[in-house]
Amino acid sequence: MNEVMLAKDIFWVGKIDDREVPFHRLILAKGTTYNAYLLKTEKPTVIDTVDLEFGREFVEYLSELIDPKEIQYIVINHTEPDHSGGLAALAGRAPDATIVCTEIAVNELKEMYKLHSRNFLVVKDGDTLDIGGKTLKFKETPYLHTEETMITYCIEDKILFPCDIFSTHVAGKEFFADEAGYDITEDFIGYYNAIIHPHRRYVRTLINALEELDVQMIAPSHGYILRNDIQKYIDLYATLSADTVEGKKVTIVYTTIRNSTKKIAEYLKKIFEENNIQASVFNADKSDQAEILESIKEADAVFIGSSTKYADMIGNLEDLLKELKKMDLQGKIGAAFGSYGWSGEATEVIQDYLNQTNMDVQSTSHVIKTTGMTHVEFPVRVRFAPKDDQLKKIEHSATYVADLLLSAI
Ligand code: FEO
Repeated sequence: MNEVMLAKDIFWVGKIDDREVPFHRLILAKGTTYNAYLLKTEKPTVIDTVDLEFGREFVEYLSELIDPKEIQYIVINHTEPDHSGGLAALAGRAPDATIVCTEIAVNELKEMYKLHSRNFLVVKDGDTLDIGGKTLKFKETPYLHTEETMITYCIEDKILFPCDIFSTHVAGKEFFADEAGYDITEDFIGYYNAIIHPHRRYVRTLINALEELDVQMIAPSHGYILRNDIQKYIDLYATLSADTVEGKKVTIVYTTIRNSTKKIAEYLKKIFEENNIQASVFNADKSDQAEILESIKEADAVFIGSSTKYADMIGNLEDLLKELKKMDLQGKIGAAFGSYGWSGEATEVIQDYLNQTNMDVQSTSHVIKTTGMTHVEFPVRVRFAPKDDQLKKIEHSATYVADLLLSAI
């Protein structure tokens, strides 16, 4: 294959996968590419690799452009195996290379590819790395779309290497969007909707971060490299990630032993209100059931919580949950939450009841299967009173639901 050059000393070294690739429970009808890049500088650097399946092939192709022993840095923007999968093969052939990634990524990569004895360079937001003739700048982009992700920017060539972000799932014969022979916008938006949109809250942070970079080319890790109309693609992300829906309501109902579950309920309310969603909170043991049911009828999302006592819910919740089974709750989002001291079965009991309604009941496994997010948990379970990391956990779950409510997609 002829070499593909993005700029002086910067080459595409990826893999075109033109099969109908299974991916996050989708079938990629147009295939995809795993784009990696070689920066053939005084300290040769590879940015990202390819899918696990193609590691050996990747290193063979790379070897046509450089002796892998010369490679000094391997930058891993994102640890999912479609981009880090070639790392074991490459690291084996590049014994002096330092692996560059975020702090969270280090352990993942060590464990995934048995790299415990390798040198890692942990980079933080805004750090730069001199690779001899070019300078790389790193920006952490947590939750876009997994916690450890970052993007890399080559200062001299003004090229952004954002891994999954700004990608397309197309195994085209051409590498650059302007040579594709058609308008790629539909494929670009299709990728955004399928992969990025659930994480759109973090897209907004990214867009702000990009304002301080002069990006003249975007070299993502799937599909087309963008070198014309860059601002159009950034603006599309800004537009598509905006909230488009207003006037949503959430009803939060709880019972509590020593106010820990009440604190979760109040924190959920706070997060929803910060997202311009009206939140009504009821203590099921102190409020009129008819009033609670009326609020639930009007709500777009319903959170039901209880402390756990003797492996069960407490107070008046069971009567209320039995009423919910009789109601038409189609189109509403449902979720369970609760504080516990030992094992926390109340949230499971509530979840079982909610699953008998026709609400869209949230679960951790469904979130992972549909979005890849591993930091969002349902039911929301907190041991003892919520604080520090547990508040963050509640926030992640609430903002996940808020983002579902505030977008029409
Ligand atoms: Fe293309 Fe998140 O992997």
